[in-house]
Amino acid sequence: MRVYIVGTGYVGLVTAVCLADLGHQVCGVDINSEKIQLLQEGGCPIYEPGLEDLLKKNIDGGRLSFKVDIGSEINDYDVVIIAVGTPERERDGRADLYYVAQTAKQIALHATKDSLIVIGKSTVPTGTAKQISESLISHNKITRFHVGSNPETLREGNAVHDFMNPDRIIMGGDNVAINCLQALYEKISCAKVITDTNSAEMIKLTANFMLAQRISTTNALAQICEATGANVEKVMEGVGLDKRIGPHFLQAGVGYGGSCFPKDTKSIISIAEHHRIDPLIFKAVVDVNESQIHFFMRKVEEMAIMTLKNRSIAVWGVAFKPETDDVRDAPSIKVINALIEEGALVRVFDPVATVPKPLKYKITCCKDMYEAAAGAEILLIVTEWNCFKQADMSNVKLLMETAKIVDGRNIFDPQKMRELGFEYSSIGRS
Ligand SMILES: NC(=O)c1ccc[n+]([C@@H]2O[C@H](COP(=O)([O-])OP(=O)(O)OC[C@H]3O[C@@H](n4cnc5c(N)ncnc54)[C@H](O)[C@@H]3O)[C@@H](O)[C@H]2O)c1
Repeated sequence: MRVYIVGTGYVGLVTAVCLADLGHQVCGVDINSEKIQLLQEGGCPIYEPGLEDLLKKNIDGGRLSFKVDIGSEINDYDVVIIAVGTPERERDGRADLYYVAQTAKQIALHATKDSLIVIGKSTVPTGTAKQISESLISHNKITRFHVGSNPETLREGNAVHDFMNPDRIIMGGDNVAINCLQALYEKISCAKVITDTNSAEMIKLTANFMLAQRISTTNALAQICEATGANVEKVMEGVGLDKRIGPHFLQAGVGYGGSCFPKDTKSIISIAEHHRIDPLIFKAVVDVNESQIHFFMRKVEEMAIMTLKNRSIAVWGVAFKPETDDVRDAPSIKVINALIEEGALVRVFDPVATVPKPLKYKITCCKDMYEAAAGAEILLIVTEWNCFKQADMSNVKLLMETAKIVDGRNIFDPQKMRELGFEYSSIGRS
């Protein structure tokens, strides 16, 4: 099939590369001309394991191309996929549909063929596909549009594998849109959930909410574990072995972050409020996540004794999770901001992610984890990268001014750390 993908971010780019690798003829389009230039040269604008090689392979194979801005060539394609961002609106937590609306308008202004299939892949409030349809019709009275919904479920850090081997593919829309999606994913064998667009959109938001809820429940329970002398890791191991519950997303830590869970949980709250439905359970998940940073910072302050002012604090990890360079809504940013507010001298290292400007200028960015730890009074673990788990902690102890660790991801064994001579605090374990 000939596939036109609008938006070449984490989702759009992975989708473009993987669909090309499945044999489709794909064009990726973006308004960001710098990104498109880099892609046209075979460079990868994001860190995502395996993506760059696959990108080059499919460009060389002639199945993948990129261009700036939607144009009349859209009419040469069988399907248009919308994969633009839907960030959270600061003022009310609703998903900002500005980029989706702009995209729909541009598609409508350039569409001249008899009938065009448009598929929404971005995560959006339920009802958005219908609004896209209305927008397309209002800007173009001639073309017939079939709007479908195919929300993406890949995880950053594992995106290529997830796209090619999903648990399920969600397909919403009329018969024309569904037939198109069936053909698009013909080579991927997995469960295919076929439904209307409203339900398809709701499946994605609900899945993200359920996962975020498990993290917040675990974090709330971690506080009880600490207060009562239980070990949250053992508790969740025991709980997760119950097949009705399962082991995933039951790790205590500094809370969830990234470009999906924070905005999607808030999006559900605003949808509920819009329909005058009590958002109690949704709000609890968000509140626990926000309070988890305070819980972590209290531990840091207690370990610092009296003040953090002018104290050298090392932070390992900036990305919201390992194997990605995404720092959107990352807990690390909240931690670093809190440290700076207290007057601490912050030394940061992450294997691939960088601290965004202007925060970057208020800290010391280090070239490796040992440099970050050198001279620090407390080491904070904020992302559970494998390299941190494998660090030579005897060396770290020698490098630090005082051997103190607050482990926000429970990557170390408390007993081993204490045997090495560290004062060590983690989440939900004594
Ligand atoms: N990142 C994830 O892990 C993930 C997973 C599943 C679903 N999603 C959802 O997928 C959507 C995209 O997320 P992302 O992380 O890829 O976002 P992103 O911010 O990385 O990328 C969005 C891209 O769209 C481009 N864009 C914006 N307006 C445009 C327009 N009018 N025409 C062409 N390009 C335009 C931007 O320049 C940017 O490159 C969001 O709704 C998100 O919630 C994300």
